[in-house]
Amino acid sequence: MTIQDFIPPPYTKMIENASVSYQSPSNIALVKYWGKHGEQLPQNASISFTLSNCKSETTLDFKKKTKGGYDFKVYLDGHREKEFEPKIEKFFNRVAPYLPFINEYRFVIKTQNTFPHSSGIASSASGMSALAMCLVGLESQLNDPKNERLQNKQYQLQKASFLARLGSGSAARSINGPLVVWGAHPKIKGSSDLFGTTYPYKVHDNFTNYHDTILLVDKAEKQVSSTVGHDLMHNNPYAKQRFEKANSNLEQLISIFETGDLDSFIALVESEALQLHAMMMASSPYFILMKPNTLKIIDSIWGFRKATNSKVCFTLDAGANVHVLYPSSEKQQVQQFIKNELSIFCKDGSYIDDFTGTGASTI
Ligand code: PMV
Repeated sequence: MTIQDFIPPPYTKMIENASVSYQSPSNIALVKYWGKHGEQLPQNASISFTLSNCKSETTLDFKKKTKGGYDFKVYLDGHREKEFEPKIEKFFNRVAPYLPFINEYRFVIKTQNTFPHSSGIASSASGMSALAMCLVGLESQLNDPKNERLQNKQYQLQKASFLARLGSGSAARSINGPLVVWGAHPKIKGSSDLFGTTYPYKVHDNFTNYHDTILLVDKAEKQVSSTVGHDLMHNNPYAKQRFEKANSNLEQLISIFETGDLDSFIALVESEALQLHAMMMASSPYFILMKPNTLKIIDSIWGFRKATNSKVCFTLDAGANVHVLYPSSEKQQVQQFIKNELSIFCKDGSYIDDFTGTGASTI
């Protein structure tokens, strides 16, 4: 697939006004994407678990207008959110070549997240993927109903991931599930820099319904955005080695997923999380997104694992919150451990239980 495959032929249908609604989840990367080039293309391949509970629910109302600039309003939880509008404008600019209808409609985007806005959980992956699904949903109604390629569900999901990527790189991995690869990798068939693809090989039962409890350590907006963080990889002295390491870690995961080797999984996933943050510390200017409680949680997880032989582990995204990952067979004991020993390190004691899911769907 190339970029050209996402430029549609002239539309054959006309719709005056209608509405589409989709929900799309967040995802948590096991091998991290950190560093990009060109138009939102990743410097290395990444893989994530798609989540279930943490999601955005978005409705796109649209009404035909005469051509001209973009016309849209964004509502979050029923309130106009002007702060989001520059981000959406930038997104519209990027997707316009692939969605020629975009300046022919007046849009109202109504969105809500199932997780609290101020939780420090990035809503860009779920939010951008839900919006991309809505736009593809609208486009499928404008396209020739007899055109098999354009009406093919698989193609539409690929296009949604392609568009979501232009809003936020990691959003490309939220359309499908439960394991999604984004970024071309020589050992992963079908993988592409342009969109996310469902992991195509054998996955051991140990990874079915994998759990992720998100510990909310810091709910404030982070001091360094991921856009700035990605950018700083251009001058990072360890960037090349990092990109190579991420790709070799992904290759190693293929046999880990096949055999269900949880000890190797833990070692790889925790190392990935710490490498991501090591890149931040090695950037110029350097920065640290972890907080003292992030480290206390990591220390407690290591202590618990040593004492109980549990297969619980942690990962981090670009923030202070900790994602606690564990197999569903350990659900009871790990959730008890979180409640008794980790929740004290969370802001207002708050955390969110989640598990792997299958991606975006209509509402
Ligand atoms: O999608 P962005 O641009 O917000 O970048 C997200 C990067 C990480 O969450 C830190 C890693 C990843 O692969 O999701």
